[in-house]
Amino acid sequence: MPRGSAYDEFHEEQKLGKVYDSRLMKRLMRYAKPYYKLMAVTVFVLLIMSGLKILQPYLTKIGIDRFVLFSNAKLDLSDTTDAFIREVRERYADGLLPLAEDGWFLFDHNDIDPGDAAKLNKLGVLGKEKFYVVREESYPEGAERDTIKAIIARHSDKFEATSRAGTVIVSYNNIQEIPKEDLDRLRVNDRLGILYIGLIYLAVLIVTFGAQYAQVYLMAWIGQNILFDIRNDVYRHLQSLSLKFFDSNPVGRLVTRSTNDVNVLNEMFTSVVINLFSDLFMLIGISGMLLYMNWRLGLILLALAPFIMVVTLLFRIKFRDAYRKVRVKIARINATLSEHFSGIRVIKIFSREKENIARFREINLDYYKANMYQLVVHALFSPVIVLFRNIGLGLIIWFGGGQVVQNLLPLGALVAYLSYVEMFFQPINAIAEKFNIMQAAMASSERIFQILDTEPDITEAEKPVAIEPVKGKVDFENVSFAYKKLPDDVEWEWVLRDVSFSVEPGESVAFVGETGAGKTTIISLLSRFYDVQKGRIRVDGVDVRDWDKGKLRKNIGVVLQDVFLFASDIKTNIRLNNEAISEEKLEEIARVVNADRFIGKLPNGFDEPVTERGSTLSAGQRQLLAFARALAFDPAILVLDEATANIDTETEQLIQEALWRLMEDRTSIVIAHRLSTIQHVDRILVMHKGRIVEEGNHQELLAKGGIYYKLYQLQYKGQEV
Ligand SMILES: Nc1ncnc2c1ncn2[C@@H]1O[C@H](COP(=O)(O)OP(=O)(O)OP(=O)(O)O)[C@@H](O)[C@H]1O
Ligand SMILES: [Mg+2]
Repeated sequence: MPRGSAYDEFHEEQKLGKVYDSRLMKRLMRYAKPYYKLMAVTVFVLLIMSGLKILQPYLTKIGIDRFVLFSNAKLDLSDTTDAFIREVRERYADGLLPLAEDGWFLFDHNDIDPGDAAKLNKLGVLGKEKFYVVREESYPEGAERDTIKAIIARHSDKFEATSRAGTVIVSYNNIQEIPKEDLDRLRVNDRLGILYIGLIYLAVLIVTFGAQYAQVYLMAWIGQNILFDIRNDVYRHLQSLSLKFFDSNPVGRLVTRSTNDVNVLNEMFTSVVINLFSDLFMLIGISGMLLYMNWRLGLILLALAPFIMVVTLLFRIKFRDAYRKVRVKIARINATLSEHFSGIRVIKIFSREKENIARFREINLDYYKANMYQLVVHALFSPVIVLFRNIGLGLIIWFGGGQVVQNLLPLGALVAYLSYVEMFFQPINAIAEKFNIMQAAMASSERIFQILDTEPDITEAEKPVAIEPVKGKVDFENVSFAYKKLPDDVEWEWVLRDVSFSVEPGESVAFVGETGAGKTTIISLLSRFYDVQKGRIRVDGVDVRDWDKGKLRKNIGVVLQDVFLFASDIKTNIRLNNEAISEEKLEEIARVVNADRFIGKLPNGFDEPVTERGSTLSAGQRQLLAFARALAFDPAILVLDEATANIDTETEQLIQEALWRLMEDRTSIVIAHRLSTIQHVDRILVMHKGRIVEEGNHQELLAKGGIYYKLYQLQYKGQEV
């Protein structure tokens, strides 16, 4: 296996382009079009889910601050000469609870802006102690309210009156001294509140679960359907391409296009196109929440954003490099594997196992290194983002914790805040990953579209002609043909030069000539697998370029030099999924071509499975199956590229017999390697370096003493029948 740059370029794609290419994206989105509505639904579900996720820490905060901890403190607002105090008294008029002492109030931390709290703290009017408020009217009227009144009366030394009737307050220290059962009664509303918050939280979780299920399902459904469509398109298009295309594209590459490259798009459609919305929404929602809850702390966090962006950008470049390396190496592993296992026979025959193991080890090592590199880059990126997150957390704990200690911020708010900070970094990480997915997707889609944009160069005629029934007259008129240009890219590398011959309906001709003379090329041209550069080829008087391509090929039965069998069963390999050919017809065909004997000996007869390439059958058996395949379609013209393989005399006999029956009443063009075949055809054409140099029957040509005579001496002597 050659190595080095030319080989690599042939097998491996190194190109990695832009993250976003609007032209490619437009074409890709065409595949998504049938699913737009569902995609919108999925985005909607995702938004609901994100909203619910954002809600969760807030519920925690409410639970802690409203129902668990005491969040009230005393405020001395008696100094009305101070403008700010007057302002506070006015602004929080509804929220402030006037105490018995004139000018003193109780305020709830949950309701006051932390900035104002800080200012009040500075003025020294903010009390440090925390209080619990008991409002008699918040208990059900009757026995329960009376009990509360009794408790308050019993511990009257612990409670302080307020200027509002039926409302008393109790300090954190004092409440500790109230016996547990009384306290439980007092706080019955808090317990209920916690229960409600818990139930709401549970409901949120259940809805989130349902939404997540729906979202994952929808996303998979949309993604898989788009992939299904794209794969079908790629396959359909590949089928329409000519052999020329397949000559220059290794099978491994085409397999990769139809599988890996398409799969990369899946990630793009699902995790990028759809999830981007939810990531952005999360980012915006959390940022909003951070600012809403405490804009000062929020700004501290947002100040980290530019740093994160720079780091992400730097890593993105590294990622790209690492990703490219991995792709190149995996492509090489794939190519090596497919090549070595298709060629396993050759490897074993020449005992190359050890060398190949060593070579594979090398390639595998490269792949391993590329993977490790990618992992290292990854391993570095995530911790850096985590580092930023921890810096963020540290800053919040520092500033926020200080505020909590100073009674400026309720503890629950800080807890919720810390949760938001953690959540804030998830979408950032996710968006960074999306860059890579997009990059890969753009590269893959470029390659897929490259295939879809390859115009089939054997195009259907504008007004395709089909003659029914075909008589089977074949004319080559001054045909010159080349598969490709010479390295100078100007001159053609001629394989056939000025070839002219005619075959009458029902006539049989044989082509002979040394290897590489152009015999197989002639029959490829007849079926119009390639178009000729000069001259023309006619079937029943109509240029093959004007023929209906499908009908033309249906009328030409081709048996190739090496028979390809599909991994299926004998039956399918004969009728190639053409269900119109009945079982009886199948058996009759097998009988005509002498394939019935060996098929009959197989354990499952026509249903006997055939492995890839038919490796469980002998060369002769494969040849007979190929005859059966040709006969099943009953073509007017039979084209046969005889296998060069040596076959035992008995099978040879069977094959010859089958062949004569096949050739009967048909125009037959045979590339002959066997004397027995040559002697039975009407005419022999001798090819030499792309030209027809001699013509006649066996005896005439021998008598001539030319090229045929020499060929015969070299090849056919000792093969006498
Ligand atoms: N797909 C192809 N692309 C480019 N060149 C090709 C292709 N197929 C054949 N050739 C070239 O065309 C020439 C003729 O090949 P062809 O297969 O027609 O020979 P042949 O007479 O059938 O030989 P053989 O007896 O060995 O089967 C050869 O030089 C070969 O290298
Ligand atoms: Mg050939």
